[in-house]
Amino acid sequence: MRTPQGDAGTLCNERGSPSFTYLPEASAPQEVGLLMPARLAPYTGGMLPPLFSMNLPEGFLLVQFRARLENVARVDPLLLLGITGDAHPIGRLAMSSDALETLRPGRAALANGECLEELLEWDGAEGLFHELVDRYALRSGISGVQPKVVVPELGHAAAPELIVKAGRDEYPHLPVNEFICMSIVKAAGLPVPDFWLSDNMELFVMRRFDVAADGARLGFEDFAALTRRQPELKYESSYEEIARVIRRVVAGPYIATALEQLFDTVAVSCMVGNGDAHLKNFGVLYTHPAAGDVRMSPVYDLVCSTMYLPADALALRLGGSKAFAGSLRLLDFARLCNVADPEERLRRIEQAVVGTIEKQAYLIGEAPGLRRALNLGCSAWRCRAHGLRGVDDVALSRLRMGGRAGQRAGLARAGTGGSGIAGVLCRARYAARKRNVKSVVYPLLNRGRAAMEIWRTNVAHRRVAPPMQRGVICNLV
Ligand SMILES: Nc1ncnc2c1ncn2[C@@H]1O[C@H](COP(=O)(O)OP(=O)(O)OP(=O)(O)O)[C@@H](O)[C@H]1O
Ligand SMILES: [Mg+2]
Repeated sequence: MRTPQGDAGTLCNERGSPSFTYLPEASAPQEVGLLMPARLAPYTGGMLPPLFSMNLPEGFLLVQFRARLENVARVDPLLLLGITGDAHPIGRLAMSSDALETLRPGRAALANGECLEELLEWDGAEGLFHELVDRYALRSGISGVQPKVVVPELGHAAAPELIVKAGRDEYPHLPVNEFICMSIVKAAGLPVPDFWLSDNMELFVMRRFDVAADGARLGFEDFAALTRRQPELKYESSYEEIARVIRRVVAGPYIATALEQLFDTVAVSCMVGNGDAHLKNFGVLYTHPAAGDVRMSPVYDLVCSTMYLPADALALRLGGSKAFAGSLRLLDFARLCNVADPEERLRRIEQAVVGTIEKQAYLIGEAPGLRRALNLGCSAWRCRAHGLRGVDDVALSRLRMGGRAGQRAGLARAGTGGSGIAGVLCRARYAARKRNVKSVVYPLLNRGRAAMEIWRTNVAHRRVAPPMQRGVICNLV
C-alpha cells in the first residue's frame, strides 16, 4: 500500500481474514487514513477496514467486474481492491500486488485517455458508454451503484481524470436530472466539481476533485469510512452524526465552513427531493493525515430521486425522522451546526432552485417527470416552511384538546400572529405534526388563492381528503 508521501504497509489475507501492517519506518505523513494511525500492531478484525472498502465497486461496476473476472478468479473484496488499487482509485492510496498482475487491464489501456470535448460531442450510432466500460471498467476504483467509469483525461498537462456517469433503464434521464440538481447546488453558492452534460444528454461527466491542479493526489474519505461503517451501512446514520464527525476530523479553520456546507446540502436535498444523501455522498479532502488541512470535499451526487420514487424520504435521519424537513427541523439543525444565518441561506437556496428551474426550462423538459417532481418538491417545501412563526403553546394545547371546536380554537389562536390563511393552515399542520396530533380539522375560512394552492398541493401529495362541505380534513403524515 502506497501514499504519495511514501510506502505505508502491507495488506494481506490470512485464511480469509484481511490484516494491514504498517512498515516500521512509516510515520504520520505515510498514514493511510485519518482513523488508522501508524502503529506496530497490525490492523485486523475479520473484514477490510472501511477505509479500504470505501472505493469497492458496487451496483453496475460490480456486475462488470464479475462478468470479466469470474472465469479466472474468485471475485472477493481483496481481489477487487488489488485490481483497482494500482490504477489510481479515488483518494491518495495506491496498491500493487504481483500476484494480481496478470488480471490487471493492460498497461496500454491505462496509458490512453479520452478527450473531454469528444466525449461531450459524441453522436455516433454505437453506444459510447459501452466502449468506455470495456476500456476502463477494470481500472475504476470507485464506489456507487450507478453506471460509471473513471477515465484519464487527454490533453491536460496535470493528468486529471474524469468520472463518466450514464443512466439506466430503471432511472431514465438520470444524467439530465443530476446535471440540473448539481446546477442548483452551484447556483446556491456551494462548491462543486467541474461538471458537464454530453450533447446527447446521455452522459454526466465530472472532473475528479481528489486530484490537485498540479496533479498531486489528495486524500479523500467518505463519511461511511469516517464513521467506521462498511458501505452497505451507508443509510444507517443521521446528519447530526455527520456534524459530530466534522467537528472531530475537520481542521479547525475549516470547521465552520464544513458545517455550513452540510446544512446547505441537507437543505437543498429537502427542497429538490433528494433521498440519496447518504454517508458515502459526503466526504473530506486532505493532503495527508499530518498536514492539518482536512476540509469538506465539494458537493457531489445530488439528484431529484422523487422523480422516480415519489414517496422517497431523506437517506439519513434529521431530528429523529427521515421525512424531508421543513424549516423547523432545519432551523434546529442549523443551531446544532452553529450556522449563523440559516433563514438567509434557506432563502438563497430556494432562489437557486426556482431560478435554475426557470433558466433550464428547456433541458428540464427533456426529462419527463423532472419538472413536476421539482415543482412538487418546491411547493411541499413552502408548505413545510410556513411552520416557522405564530404557533404558541396555547394554540398547541387547544389543538391537542381534540375535537372540532378545540382544533378551531387552536387554529384561530395560531392565526393571530400570522398573515393570511396560507400561513395559518401550514403552521397549524406543522405544529400539530410536530406535537404528534394525529389530525386536524380546519374550516376553509376564505377561498383565497394561497389557501387553494396549498390545499391543492396537499391533495397532490395525498395528505388531505377532498373538501367536506365547509371544511377540509387534513390527515397528517
Ligand atoms: N468529482 C469527484 N471527484 C472525486 N471523487 C468523486 C467525485 N464524485 C464522486 N466521487 C466519489 O465517487 C463515489 C461515487 O460517485 P457517485 O456518488 O456520484 O456515484 P453514484 O453511483 O451516483 O452513487 P450512489 O450509489 O450514491 O447513487 C462517491 O461516493 C465519491 O467517493
Ligand atoms: Mg453516491
